[in-house]
Amino acid sequence: MQADIVMYVENFWINNLWQMVKIREELCNFAHMDTLDTNIPYHIPVMLHETVDGLNVAPGGVYADMTFGGGGHSREILRRMDESARLYSFDQDADAERNIVDDDRFTFVRSNFRYLRNWMRYHDVEQLDGVLADLGVSSHQFDEGELGFSFRFDAKLDMRMNRRDGLTAADIVNTYDEERLAEIFYLYGELLNSRKLASVIVKARAQAPIETTGQLYETVKRLFGRDREKKEMAKLFQALRIEVNEEMEALKEMLQSATELLRPGGRLVVLTYHSLEDRLVKNLMKTGNVEGKVEQDIYGTKPSPYRMVGKVAVASREEQEENPRSRSAKLRIGEKR
Ligand SMILES: C[S@@+](CC[C@H](N)C(=O)[O-])C[C@H]1O[C@@H](n2cnc3c(N)ncnc32)[C@H](O)[C@@H]1O
Repeated sequence: MQADIVMYVENFWINNLWQMVKIREELCNFAHMDTLDTNIPYHIPVMLHETVDGLNVAPGGVYADMTFGGGGHSREILRRMDESARLYSFDQDADAERNIVDDDRFTFVRSNFRYLRNWMRYHDVEQLDGVLADLGVSSHQFDEGELGFSFRFDAKLDMRMNRRDGLTAADIVNTYDEERLAEIFYLYGELLNSRKLASVIVKARAQAPIETTGQLYETVKRLFGRDREKKEMAKLFQALRIEVNEEMEALKEMLQSATELLRPGGRLVVLTYHSLEDRLVKNLMKTGNVEGKVEQDIYGTKPSPYRMVGKVAVASREEQEENPRSRSAKLRIGEKR
């Protein structure tokens, strides 16, 4: 009897352990974890199914994923594509290359998506059936302390997604004039004390350059109330990141090119994470230009080149609980007329 119980318990553990190993492997494949050892996923795709459903993947279609990252969305697009369909996935971060998919239908483009039009010409693509953009930075970029995207880690103030060129956050903090710094903090971080922040930074850097996330944090932290410190600091870092990577300019250029390249019936699917980028996408889909200018022609108001597909969608409560990054996501889908 006792031996039976011992055997039962042993079998129970062996079976469960085996199942756990299989589940962990599946999860790693799905989320494209950095390694099995660290258990840190490169990035968990946000609103995966809603987003790829929005693309309406069809036989023989040609698709472009503007933000490959961990490749979660790209892999789901590939899964739904037939043999003759094609996918071009962009990312300007060299680290994303480690997630490249080995598939003849797939091409990785290591570039800023602002050059979408040129790259499509280079690959002899005249029209696209769908363009997907999941904007901002990946969890990998946030969690990789040495990239300087987060004030959770003390590192060089870098924040470049493409570390091959461009100004770093330290260059900006140490060389921009006070007025320009205040503008950036106000426009891109929506920080109400932007002038004070800029003035404190300019005074501090006159003593010694601000080179690290820790030094920037120490310089400005007294300007934020204790209860709001994390939120305000996140806004400050967001503002710098947007400026470093010229995110607004790149987004405007990409949206313009995507609108030109999409064939009638083609879909533009965009996930945004803050109001500034969301406003540009909303304007484009409503009016055909990122400024939201309602244009007139001899027949009256010019119709937008897009028909909105459904309403703006947000992540389900379950997804928001499981993946905090999905909490600020807004999904907009437009169909080219
Ligand atoms: C939110 S992540 C995308 C995650 C991806 N959808 C996935 O499922 O793993 C955004 C990615 O886009 C890249 N990115 C952001 N702006 C870019 C731009 N202007 N050009 C090219 N890549 C960009 C970032 O480097 C980052 O890897």
